[in-house]
Amino acid sequence: MDKDLIKAARDVLDNAHVPYSNFHVGSALRMKDGTVITGVNVENASYGLANCAERTALFTARTQGYKKDDIVEVVVTTKQDFIVSPCGACRQVMSELVPADAPVHMVDANDNVLTLKNKELLPHGFSEEDL
Ligand code: THU
Repeated sequence: MDKDLIKAARDVLDNAHVPYSNFHVGSALRMKDGTVITGVNVENASYGLANCAERTALFTARTQGYKKDDIVEVVVTTKQDFIVSPCGACRQVMSELVPADAPVHMVDANDNVLTLKNKELLPHGFSEEDL
């Protein structure tokens, strides 16, 4: 596990726009070329429009031209002293944009880490193969 990737996700935590939940989430993706792409959660007065940190990072990667197979690993972290795992919406998006076998590291404020493969986060999920 790349400690620098955890640091990258932590470094952006204070950039989260979370006036409603005060729940800061940071995510970082490591790409095959070594680039690190980060994302934070961005909330809105229309609550349902909140965009999670993982999706912010993934959409940024896509915007920069990266493809699914460019992603090596994913970190998700918060300021909490317990491990937080990606929400259902993020799992669905990750199932399409992150390689199935890529590790997803969930990291709490005390350096506790739970690592699962992306495909373990959404068993029996809906995918492009169902269309
Ligand atoms: N949140 C994330 O950014 N990622 C997750 O996987 C879980 C939830 C955000 C959404 C909202 O801004 C705040 O955490 C509280 O739900």
